[in-house]
Amino acid sequence: MRVATSGSFPRVAAGSIARALREAAREGGEVGVALAGGSTPRPVYRRLARLEAPWGRLRVFFGDERCVPPDDPRSNYRMVRETLLTDAPLDPDRLHRMEGERDDRDAAAREYGALLPASLGLLVLGIGSDGHTASLFPGSPALDEEERRVVPVEGPAESPPRLTVTPPVIRAASRTVVLARGAEKAEAVARAVEGEAPVAECPARLARGGEWIVDDAAATRLSPRRRGPREP
Ligand code: 6PG
Repeated sequence: MRVATSGSFPRVAAGSIARALREAAREGGEVGVALAGGSTPRPVYRRLARLEAPWGRLRVFFGDERCVPPDDPRSNYRMVRETLLTDAPLDPDRLHRMEGERDDRDAAAREYGALLPASLGLLVLGIGSDGHTASLFPGSPALDEEERRVVPVEGPAESPPRLTVTPPVIRAASRTVVLARGAEKAEAVARAVEGEAPVAECPARLARGGEWIVDDAAATRLSPRRRGPREP
């Protein structure tokens, strides 16, 4: 658990991700990393793009994607293209987007699942105020999926359907970094990190063993022992 100020959150989070990538690279071979979507990662990926990382050995994937075209403002791929890809020395051929726009979402999910490495060197996740992570929402049947690695799911109201990695992919990741910023995440962070709620009610609990990067506002419901020192 690393607690940052709101202002230092992008720097602290980007530093943790870069460190995890360098550590994964020391194990040799290519490094598979799956990125979180949403809005929290935007400033983090912008800073990450300028840090030292094994860019030439990365295979970049997504933890989930909205079922919209890649240039849609809601697309996680578009968000990563506008932030990480603008400055990172990453060959675009090393970035594998989920083809959420395809009519046959099941086929798109199956094909993407086959692309993923058996174990990601790093999985970057976010958390919703309802405790979801990737696009694994509370009560979703996808939480019981133990065979497939990527499945299509319905999104919450007002949101398009999604493709998402499943619990086996989260469990198999060698390293996980979870990003949480803002007071609206505080309850979900506390439930996921130290609460008793089952995964079915708080899917982000699947990432309990990861490195959590939270800002002050998202840390307010954590017990003092969990919160640890704040990073300036
Ligand atoms: C997505 C994400 C999702 C996200 C959380 C938090 O596609 O929306 O993968 O899991 O991490 O919903 O979203 P914010 O960062 O926008 O709060």
